[in-house]
Amino acid sequence: MHMHRLEKVWLSIGVSMLAVFLLILGVMTFGQGMAPPNKHVNHIDPTKVSETAPFDQPQIKQIGDNEYEAVMVAYAFGYDPTPMEVPVGSKVNFKVTSSDVVHGFQIPKTNVNVMVTPGEISEVSHTFDKPGEYLIICNEYCGISHEMMKTTLVVK
Ligand code: CUA
Repeated sequence: MHMHRLEKVWLSIGVSMLAVFLLILGVMTFGQGMAPPNKHVNHIDPTKVSETAPFDQPQIKQIGDNEYEAVMVAYAFGYDPTPMEVPVGSKVNFKVTSSDVVHGFQIPKTNVNVMVTPGEISEVSHTFDKPGEYLIICNEYCGISHEMMKTTLVVK
């Protein structure tokens, strides 16, 4: 097969760009330590959420100076516990699981946005430096009252 010289040039530019993009992606992934969730650490029997510690007692508790742990259960259509309150400047470590279907866990105007999948424990942390009422909403369609699924974190 005969190829024009310019075709060869463009083809090699295309192939090398692809190689560069894949290389960047690989370096970034390993550099940031990205990995799939650890199945052993973050697993829970979704049919036994209400009997499995710590999710048998959903609560927000202080675990250090300005640090709180929020153990939460997402269900159709709400979150436990609700509402929650922490002082300004608190770091909150959210541990969330679902007792039924896939839900979302998003706090608008923060970087908190995780999927809550039955059988898995989603963890995300955020430091709340500004007082206010933070809405926690579900952003995964989960049923007829999906848009009613929310709770509030009061920071004051
Ligand atoms: Cu839960 Cu939408």
